[in-house]
Amino acid sequence: VSIQSHRKDEHVSLAIKFYDQTSHAGFDQLRFVHQGIPEISLNDIDTSTNIENIKMDFPIYIEAMTGGSEYTKKLNQKLARIAKSTGIAMATGSQSVALKDNSVASSFEIVRETNPNGIVFSNLGASADVSRAKAAVKMMNSDAIEIHINTPQEMIMPEGDREFNWIENIKSIQEELDCPVIVKEVGFGMSKETIQQLVDAGVKNINISGKGGTSFSKIENYRRKKQEMDYLEDWGQTTVESLLEAQPFKDKANIIASGGIRTPLDAVKAIALGANSVGIAAPILYSLIKNGEEETIEYINDFIYGMKSIMTMLGAKNLSELQNKKLILNADLLSYVEQRGLPY
Ligand code: FNR
Repeated sequence: VSIQSHRKDEHVSLAIKFYDQTSHAGFDQLRFVHQGIPEISLNDIDTSTNIENIKMDFPIYIEAMTGGSEYTKKLNQKLARIAKSTGIAMATGSQSVALKDNSVASSFEIVRETNPNGIVFSNLGASADVSRAKAAVKMMNSDAIEIHINTPQEMIMPEGDREFNWIENIKSIQEELDCPVIVKEVGFGMSKETIQQLVDAGVKNINISGKGGTSFSKIENYRRKKQEMDYLEDWGQTTVESLLEAQPFKDKANIIASGGIRTPLDAVKAIALGANSVGIAAPILYSLIKNGEEETIEYINDFIYGMKSIMTMLGAKNLSELQNKKLILNADLLSYVEQRGLPY
């Protein structure tokens, strides 16, 4: 087993070890105003959304996690079956490992084999060049590609990258790929400055993946023998803070949320803050490993029902109506908005 394949297995086991059902992504700092007479029926709720030309029936999808080893091949196969059965889209983990070692390509290819008509997102780091990005898309005949940015993770990993000249590269990938490109964080969030850089580079889909769910500073720090960089465990902006940072860009790019989405209420709040879809990673993996495939399908269907219930209570019959619902911010969040000069 290669060092890289081993790392993929470790990421899964550590994400499960540190899994916390309670979100720390800031959703408890926000609340909706209850509307007692919504004049709407649950059956009229339309949850459909799109990422450029990709039409999705539901605004949630399985976020990038895995692939690159025998064990994670089985997980990807199960995740693909879950995606197929629930009708939601699915991203895989970074395919970089398979571009270096073709013997593990099947751990990604299996996703498309299992779900031939499903919506599949590729994933690579922002240092990958255009030809690799194209190869990653080809590997799964993907509908879109996620390009992740993850400087804290790289810095904490002893074997991680130390040079970060990404923007020209992101620009080339954006220009030369035929499918939608989504630039995403991995749970450290984004600032308005970062989002501005991406918008200036022509990026049309931005997943702010904020702090408050799976923590790659915690995971990578644990993988270091002495865990000496634990002072970085709280680094980054929460998902809620990042969505507030994204306010000025809602008309310039599709904003996608992930990081610490743990309940249907979290997901609905993320959409009300401007996201047009929401990625969920660790809760689905945790459910799959602890409870199995059938229960995970049920978990996702219940999650969608929960989102529809909240939309009904709010009288929001589709995503754009939901995006017009203003949330009440608590004092800490209001202070954040003021200090950062954010329009909300
Ligand atoms: C991830 N994540 C991730 N992201 C990415 O862009 N490429 C990757 O290869 C991986 N690998 C990975 C492995 C595992 C086991 C987990 C749990 C997560 C990050 C993921 O897509 C997401 O941004 C964060 O996990 C935050 O979402 P949750 O887990 O809090 O819902």
